[in-house]
Amino acid sequence: MERGDALYEGKAKRVYATADPKKVILHFRDDATAFNGVKKASIEDKGRINCAMTVHLLREVEAAGVKTHLIDVLNDRELLCWKVDIVPVEVVVRNAIAGSLAKRYGKPEGAWLPWPLVEYFHKSDELNDPLMTEDIAVLFGWAERRELAWMKEQSLKVNEVLRGFWSRLDIDLVDFKLEFGRLDGGLVLADEITADGSRLWEKGTGRKLDKDVFRRDLGDLSDTYRELYRRVFGHALEGT
Ligand SMILES: Nc1ncnc2c1ncn2[C@@H]1O[C@H](COP(=O)(O)OP(=O)(O)OP(=O)(O)O)[C@@H](O)[C@H]1O
Ligand SMILES: [Mg+2]
Repeated sequence: MERGDALYEGKAKRVYATADPKKVILHFRDDATAFNGVKKASIEDKGRINCAMTVHLLREVEAAGVKTHLIDVLNDRELLCWKVDIVPVEVVVRNAIAGSLAKRYGKPEGAWLPWPLVEYFHKSDELNDPLMTEDIAVLFGWAERRELAWMKEQSLKVNEVLRGFWSRLDIDLVDFKLEFGRLDGGLVLADEITADGSRLWEKGTGRKLDKDVFRRDLGDLSDTYRELYRRVFGHALEGT
């Protein structure tokens, strides 16, 4: 599938049109940003690693019955996907307290929650992705009530699958963000599942294996992502 015009340039990926108006190409770049673009860097091999990770994890959740936008893998940085109308609601699932949840309520990071917490954030770079309630999402026309219910149910299913997946690799899934898109009258899981949008802590040590390494200057993110790649695929990333 040939790449057409670039339709959108995000902070970590680029979306291209294709000859088929129903399909897009998602191109994973090496760029990393934090704090809504305030901190920026190029992280060697991040695009390839996040592309491979997204394919692997989307296939895992598909096997559990969650429909996704993924059609095909084009090369080590590009995926062919159904073009969706992204719902401007980011769904965050949390198994333990960390990040903005800890900050917002003055709680220490690391406490496990008795059951998974689902939060909604309005997808808006200008507004810094503010937290929102279900009523706000419905009142402002960002999602229908039944769409929110469906996204919540699917996100909890994804949580079960991913928690088990990471656990088998001796990693705790602390939290993650998902995006959904409208397609043919329904919704599918879209975008990516990577360590950019997840918190992954090594069991026992609590060592961070996710983008917090970059956000908080805890080490070399490229090394961290390569280690994660090795754990997931059982071998080093080609050419490294
Ligand atoms: N199948 C799809 N069809 C259309 N757009 C998609 C699809 N999957 C993901 N996207 C969108 O493509 C963009 C990917 O770029 P990237 O993830 O780098 O953006 P970003 O910097 O995180 O910005 P944003 O806040 O817009 O997500 C996102 O806006 C995402 O919502
Ligand atoms: Mg994004």
